[in-house]
Amino acid sequence: MIGTANGVRVGITGLGTCVPERVVSNDELARYVDTSDEWIVERTGIRERRIAAEDQALSDIALPAAEAALRDAGVDGASVDLLIVATVTPDMMFPTTSAILADRLGARDAAAYDLLAGCTGFMYAVAQAYGMIAGGLARRALVVGGDVLSKILDWSDRSTLVLFGDGAGAVVLEPVARGGFLGFELGADGAGGEHLWLPGSGSRRFEEPDSYVKMNGREVFKFATRVMVSSATAVLERCGLDVADVDVYVPHQANRRIIDYAAAKLGIPQERTIVNVDRYGNTSSGSIPLALADARADGRLREGQLVLMTGMGAGLTWGSALVEWTTNGSGASGAA
Ligand code: ACO
Repeated sequence: MIGTANGVRVGITGLGTCVPERVVSNDELARYVDTSDEWIVERTGIRERRIAAEDQALSDIALPAAEAALRDAGVDGASVDLLIVATVTPDMMFPTTSAILADRLGARDAAAYDLLAGCTGFMYAVAQAYGMIAGGLARRALVVGGDVLSKILDWSDRSTLVLFGDGAGAVVLEPVARGGFLGFELGADGAGGEHLWLPGSGSRRFEEPDSYVKMNGREVFKFATRVMVSSATAVLERCGLDVADVDVYVPHQANRRIIDYAAAKLGIPQERTIVNVDRYGNTSSGSIPLALADARADGRLREGQLVLMTGMGAGLTWGSALVEWTTNGSGASGAA
């Protein structure tokens, strides 16, 4: 799917994040599996990640992220009429984490549902929220991307354990006077789904106790390097923009090598590329909003800038969006 905004202005007016307190270093992981800080840093760029406490589920980190995003936009939960949580690790299949959040936030008029598109979930959810607002169905959306992947990892499997971390981010989307989303490109390739899967997680193999992530790292690496470039190129072309127009590049934070490859191939310089995989690992649907928050905190993400976001993940799926950054929504506090 590919398309442009056709002049309807919908932007991100609030942004918030939350990560668990516990920091787990590579050295700590080397106590559980046969690995080393040197191997992990060289192959992935990851130095540490946040890991949820035993009694922490997705909603426990998604709620503070959502509250922070609403505060940032200067609006309250009751004004949200669409709430999407993109995740592969909801508290449970139902009630959905989005329904739980809607209740906690007082979003009584909100349509609330969880969205499943692997690590690309945040990009899919943002595109849906954009479409519903632009189409006049919703006025203000809260999109949360978050995962507690540590709960579905096999802590004795070094090939997956070292890559992931827990975290959540949230954004408020609403009509804006200037800027906003310019276009989206989203896709899926189910034929490659076998390379990243959670076999015991649904009706196909529900009786089997195998509920841990399985991954063919090399195949996912090849897929990732291909789609990170093709998806970004496609959305830029469709919007009539060039890579030189991109002020801030926010790639999915899966692996430093994938990010470096994509940025080099696209021709985006390092100083415009947001990288925090070293501190958080791959937080799946939390990855892009966490990177946006870091970019804003370090001053690289400012009003009027052209932001390119690209995600990829299980499905296999991918998705890009171009947005002219703005904070000038109807209820926005104006904080940049
Ligand atoms: N520590 C030490 N050695 C390891 C580890 C580890 N944690 N994991 C694998 N190895 C070993 C392998 O067994 C192999 O040993 P061998 O040569 O004796 O067989 C060797 O290291 C090399 O393994 P490769 O798999 O070839 O290593 P590669 O350079 O491909 O890096 C990695 C592996 C980091 C997983 C890489 O393939 C990758 O990043 N793939 C993409 C993964 C990804 O991004 N997944 C998520 C995307 S979607 C989403 O976000 C949910």
